Amino acid sequence: MSPAASTPAPALSAALPAELAGSAATQAVGALPADTVVCDMYDPEGASVYHDFTLGDASEVRDILREVRATDGPVLELAAGAGRLTVPLLSLRRDVTAVDLSPAMLALLRERLTALPGALAGRCATVQADITGYVAPEPAGAAVLGTTSVSLLTDAQRRAMLRRTHGNLRPGGAFVLTTAQISEDAADLSERVFDVPGASGTVYRVHDLVAQDRGGRYTVVITPGGEGPRTVCHSFIRVVPPGELTADLTAAGFRVESTITLPGERYTSVLVRAVREE
Ligand SMILES: C[S@@+](CC[C@H](N)C(=O)[O-])C[C@H]1O[C@@H](n2cnc3c(N)ncnc32)[C@H](O)[C@@H]1O
Repeated sequence: MSPAASTPAPALSAALPAELAGSAATQAVGALPADTVVCDMYDPEGASVYHDFTLGDASEVRDILREVRATDGPVLELAAGAGRLTVPLLSLRRDVTAVDLSPAMLALLRERLTALPGALAGRCATVQADITGYVAPEPAGAAVLGTTSVSLLTDAQRRAMLRRTHGNLRPGGAFVLTTAQISEDAADLSERVFDVPGASGTVYRVHDLVAQDRGGRYTVVITPGGEGPRTVCHSFIRVVPPGELTADLTAAGFRVESTITLPGERYTSVLVRAVREE
């Protein structure tokens, strides 16, 4: 990331991850009014912002549906959030259990379900739980962990989640997940700043930063000024190399059947399909 020239006001910027010190993101946040709310992306204040600016994002949807279509039985969606992938999964006319840690994200998903025809919405159960320990009431035919959310977990959490997901699948059931990669040929890894229009028309300022060791990616989203306090949401995802993920899946009792790189410029994601051994 490229350090900015001056140091911002300390109070707000101190709420951002320490590695962002000196970045344009820290400088921009330090210049915001004192009543600005700085939070994690999936906190109650951040959830609606995340939902708004990802609502129109169709990434991974087609690829995940293709893999899930090749399975049968109930679908277990891990880290379902506000349902960006849940709603397309329901279009397969399968029962979907959507699990997420964040009550705020699940509330947005439930609200979204109310807009669907009853026959589809009735197939979805929402569960607030930690995917590292969640025990499904019945084994699923497919489990999905999309949007590179495996990268939100620490190594120990990831391994616990893989063991648990193995236990939550039928023998022969498939686990479909994606992991983020920094493109090897990403020539310029300096901080990027761009505007993203949300579904509501609100335009968000986004700072995208690659960790100095290329081990992860920071995102800082700043809402525009207007009525009420502004919100800054931040998130860090660590890069889990596909080889490491494959080793962890194998140790948890899966056989990795395929890995497909989904194109991207600065970041690519790798779609992994693993099958629960008998
Ligand atoms: C990047 S969002 C993805 C949400 C959704 N799949 C999408 O495509 O928009 C990551 C989600 O993971 C959830 N999450 C993070 N850690 C979790 C955990 N340990 N157990 C359950 N959910 C978790 C967050 O609450 C958030 O909703």
